[in-house]
Amino acid sequence: KLKKRSISAMPTIKIDDVEYDVEAGQNLIQAAASVGITIPHYCYHPGLSVSGNCRMCLVEQKGPRGTMATIACNTFVNDGMEFLVDNDNVKKMRQGVMEFLLLNHPIDCPICDQAGECGLQDYYMDYGLYTNRSTVPKVHKAKAVDVGPLVKLDQERCILCSRCVRFCDEITGTNELVITQRGEKSRIETFPGRELDNPYSANVVDICPVGALTSKDFRFKKRVWFLSTTQSICTGCAKGCNTYLDFEQGTTYRYRPRFNAEVNEWWMCDEGRLSYKALHQDRLDIAMQKGAELSLAKAVAAGADLIQRTMQDHGKNAVLAVASSTASLEDNFMLKHLMLQALGSEAVYSHNYDHIGEADAFLRMADKTPNTAGLQLLNISTDKEALESALANPEIKLVISLDADSDALRQQLKNTPVIYLGVHQTALALSADVTLPITAHAEHDACYVNAEQRLQKVNQAYFPTTEARPAWKLISGLFAPLLTAPPLYDDVEDVWSLMNTKVDALSALTFYEIPEGGRSLIPVSEPEAETPSEAEEAVNS
Ligand code: SF4
Ligand code: FES
Repeated sequence: KLKKRSISAMPTIKIDDVEYDVEAGQNLIQAAASVGITIPHYCYHPGLSVSGNCRMCLVEQKGPRGTMATIACNTFVNDGMEFLVDNDNVKKMRQGVMEFLLLNHPIDCPICDQAGECGLQDYYMDYGLYTNRSTVPKVHKAKAVDVGPLVKLDQERCILCSRCVRFCDEITGTNELVITQRGEKSRIETFPGRELDNPYSANVVDICPVGALTSKDFRFKKRVWFLSTTQSICTGCAKGCNTYLDFEQGTTYRYRPRFNAEVNEWWMCDEGRLSYKALHQDRLDIAMQKGAELSLAKAVAAGADLIQRTMQDHGKNAVLAVASSTASLEDNFMLKHLMLQALGSEAVYSHNYDHIGEADAFLRMADKTPNTAGLQLLNISTDKEALESALANPEIKLVISLDADSDALRQQLKNTPVIYLGVHQTALALSADVTLPITAHAEHDACYVNAEQRLQKVNQAYFPTTEARPAWKLISGLFAPLLTAPPLYDDVEDVWSLMNTKVDALSALTFYEIPEGGRSLIPVSEPEAETPSEAEEAVNS
């Protein structure tokens, strides 16, 4: 049962005769969502201008001249407004709208890739007429039109909501899409001679409420009802766009942007969206000693033995660790912490100068790794020259590399034994003395700090299908024989219970307390993002 929320200095409105205090400046779809009431809509999207063309959000508004139909997306709430959003009239209006929208729709759900997450299917269950009254043949339009490198268009399924057109006009400013012709002949097209080809093009697939715009990468790969979803972040650059990671049985099938007002709002770039593929390409899935496969336990023991022997023969300054901005905060923390605790060494440097790419003024950042700010938080040097000069020291007899590899690094390590912990089968992984496979972000609970100093977490989607383990766990194993009372780190929370005592900015924080929208580490009082209600989530999608 819906309860009245009472927060002062907010407009009080009535929805279906119940009073609610809602935030000023919202339209009725947003205001209703904030109190748990869903108003169906197609063309309205909170990240775009109001277009008001689909009419699916029709409700009744009470006024001095009686009750009138109005569209919720273009009705901004004010004190004293009264709405009816769930009576027979409203349902009948929505039924009429659905009948029109489906008049020329091919109703090809069994072969449509949007099935299972289609706005037409969903609202049809609530407001469908269920009887076809049309006596004229359907209008046919172009199917499977190749509109751009990542997107296919089915004009017949389009309901002409114009979300995709507004996205290209208002968000990317690239204006590739347009509605041409009139009446039943209206259709989405690209401008003549142009493609839907911009760095954010695949967002139109997310916001298309029906199966008209589909992703070339994802279409026909998996029925969406087989997929599970976890809240994650994109690790494709230092922005850390929030994502939904859709997976089944140890395989990630796609990323979708997850709303975060502080990071990426509703969007993500195409490059980051496709970066999920790295989770399954060239994975390092076995432990090795000098290129020969052996069990993970034996490889960890061999690595531990190598560290001990190097210590005994050459002293504590003979071991150097290369941290990585591709690895999590926990992994880098454990490397630095145990280098200090077990060896008394502070020789931990990092290396991400090979991960530089294109940037723009919207989301894409030049640093193509997710955790450079995390390294800085841990006081690990990210200076290329500092690492190079440390490696040039002839006293160095062993290097522990945490997911760090490059031509320049290998060149410097030519004659130095290496323990390599990594996600992929890189050249260094194949040539190292001891190689340990580590989990990627879909396979562990961990944190990354984005370029705006926002601590964000990824949740484990599935267990690794190989021997890979979180790097912090393997690093603890490597150093355990050197510690008089080796602590047992079994869970990410164990790492946090130590990390929050060593890193001031994380003090008193635990992993499970970090909100799904992340937490700013900039020391100002920032109101924490509330977890959106189900109705608000629906508005945000
Ligand atoms: Fe709307 Fe999709 Fe048609 Fe674009 S293609 S107008 S987003 S229904
Ligand atoms: Fe309001 Fe389309 S007219 S959502």
